[in-house]
Amino acid sequence: MPRRARIAGTGMSVGNRVVTNADMTQWMDTTEEWIEQRTGILERRWVDDTQKPSTLARDATLGALEQADLDVSDIDCILLATLSGEADFPGTAFFLHEAIDAGDIPCIDLRAQCSGFLYALQMADALIVAETYDRVLVVGAEVHSTGLDVSTSGRDVTVIFGDGSGAVILEATEAAGGAAPGLLSVRIHAEGKHAKRLWTEAPGSAHSPRLDQAMMEAGLHYPVMDGRFVFKHAVTRMPEVLLETLNSASVKMEDVDLFLFHQANLRINEFVAQKLEIPGDKIRNNIQRLGNCSAAALPILLAESSRDGSLSPGQVVSLTAFGSGFTWGSAVIRWG
Ligand code: UT7
Repeated sequence: MPRRARIAGTGMSVGNRVVTNADMTQWMDTTEEWIEQRTGILERRWVDDTQKPSTLARDATLGALEQADLDVSDIDCILLATLSGEADFPGTAFFLHEAIDAGDIPCIDLRAQCSGFLYALQMADALIVAETYDRVLVVGAEVHSTGLDVSTSGRDVTVIFGDGSGAVILEATEAAGGAAPGLLSVRIHAEGKHAKRLWTEAPGSAHSPRLDQAMMEAGLHYPVMDGRFVFKHAVTRMPEVLLETLNSASVKMEDVDLFLFHQANLRINEFVAQKLEIPGDKIRNNIQRLGNCSAAALPILLAESSRDGSLSPGQVVSLTAFGSGFTWGSAVIRWG
């Protein structure tokens, strides 16, 4: 019997501090209206001094294990997607490994920015289908707030980011035909020629030293983005890969019950929905409350949807993301 990977449990965790648009106006030249109108964001959650990427990831993981009624010892491998590593090395996955006492199972950090969760999902799916592992913990975890320029010069980037983590347990099932629950298809892409359109240059090993005072004064340790360029590519690539993925799974648009998009800007998601004529009641966004949590955005949406009943067994959910790299991807899952 062929194997398929299904999501057995989901969990999430976000920063303890609520940071409102009014807070942003205290630090930089901006207005609450500008942020809300251009991005849809009303507030985001940033970590307090008790939280790090691995504590967010731990809490999300424990939630996913509880929902799946599993124990840490049931996991065979950890894949953690992030762009905001807890240290230069080793990867955040190792700090999560310690935090959940994961014995000696392997763990891997995956760096594909806002599409990282979908990249990790494809890798985990392949590992399960190949019978390398039976259960893989897939996590997205980001702490952006400690690396943002909260002055006016960073205002375009800083207002959009939030801190959070989402986790899923992916496990093997015997696929009894097309109606069986599980991951039906994942497609991912990249275009490295645009890497510097959204990046943080330092610290990086292209520099020696990797970071010094002059580099800090030039702001090389802060993320920079060509926002309009990124926006234009996002609204083109997201519909493209969403359709490619549905086609590859032989799923029709009208058979999808829930569409989850990366949460970078509500306007991007509205464009995508308009282009594909997706009715508003089939889309869930949380950027208004949480901002852009990069690799954590999609698993957080999955956790929220599966916990409040908007996603139930047998339903079909489509996930799509676009981010730095550039990277983009989409997945289609039959829930259950
Ligand atoms: O998550 C990974 C992928 N990321 C994305 O997909 C993000 C894509 N890009 C975006 O979401 C939008 O480009 C932003 C929200 C980042 C920026 O919005 P925009 O409408 O593209 O603004 P802009 O960067 O073109 O700037 C327009 C104006 C500029 O002023 P001038 O030059 O016209 O006088 C900016 O300086 O808005 C100004 N501006 C701000 N004003 C008030 C930029 N940021 C702010 C701000 N408050 N926070």
